[in-house]
Amino acid sequence: MRKNIIAGNWKMHFSSEETKKFLNELVPKVSDAKCEVVVCPPFTSLQVASDILKNSNIKLGAQNIHFEEKGAFTGEISADMLKSFNVSYVIVGHSERRSYFNETDEDINKKIFTCLKNDFVPIFCVGETLEEREAGKMKSVLESQIKNAFLGVSKEDVKKIVVAYEPVWAIGTGKTATSEDANNVIGFIRNVVENIYDKEVSENIVILYGGSVKPNTIKEQMSMENIDGALVGGASIVVSDFESIVKF
Ligand code: PGA
Repeated sequence: MRKNIIAGNWKMHFSSEETKKFLNELVPKVSDAKCEVVVCPPFTSLQVASDILKNSNIKLGAQNIHFEEKGAFTGEISADMLKSFNVSYVIVGHSERRSYFNETDEDINKKIFTCLKNDFVPIFCVGETLEEREAGKMKSVLESQIKNAFLGVSKEDVKKIVVAYEPVWAIGTGKTATSEDANNVIGFIRNVVENIYDKEVSENIVILYGGSVKPNTIKEQMSMENIDGALVGGASIVVSDFESIVKF
């Protein structure tokens, strides 16, 4: 049985004060959740989030990590820094990082290794743009994103990775992929994983869907065979929406 995970990607939202208010409201509302609940606040809110979540069922995630241990990398955050906040998950290779901050598959591969070495679960994002989809390149894009990111990752380690299929055209647009479409593409991702590793790995790896997930889309999405959970952006910073999604 694969784990169900609902993870909230807050992106660049919420000061520490806002984080405190939000989490104090959210924690009691999802205390009986049947799935793993994760929130990924901005770095500046990790301390306050860590304090509030300590005695809760909500796991803490970070939105990024640098692959080097330390050094002259202005503006970056290391694994050790994240460890002090009891971070469990790290989002790696989000399409906004790929497109606005020029993150390459090679960077993402290194970040995955850094996560695994430090016992963080990487939430590794893949997804095609609308142009790529319309040009019939979706499968080759996804395949190369996965192959490059998993380069050198052992069979034992790859099982610890959570994949998030996030079609770029569905992120923040209100245009969610249909559940069938998402299910089929995630099925394809499982085939790619099977070709690199084996059937056991592809059947056990947790794969989330992300892209305009809302309270009114989640139930059907979660009923799909291949979809194990969701990476939620916009709806994760509204308490009532995130609560409904967690209780799909
Ligand atoms: P969205 O974002 O739910 O606002 O579309 C999802 C994501 O970027 O992870």
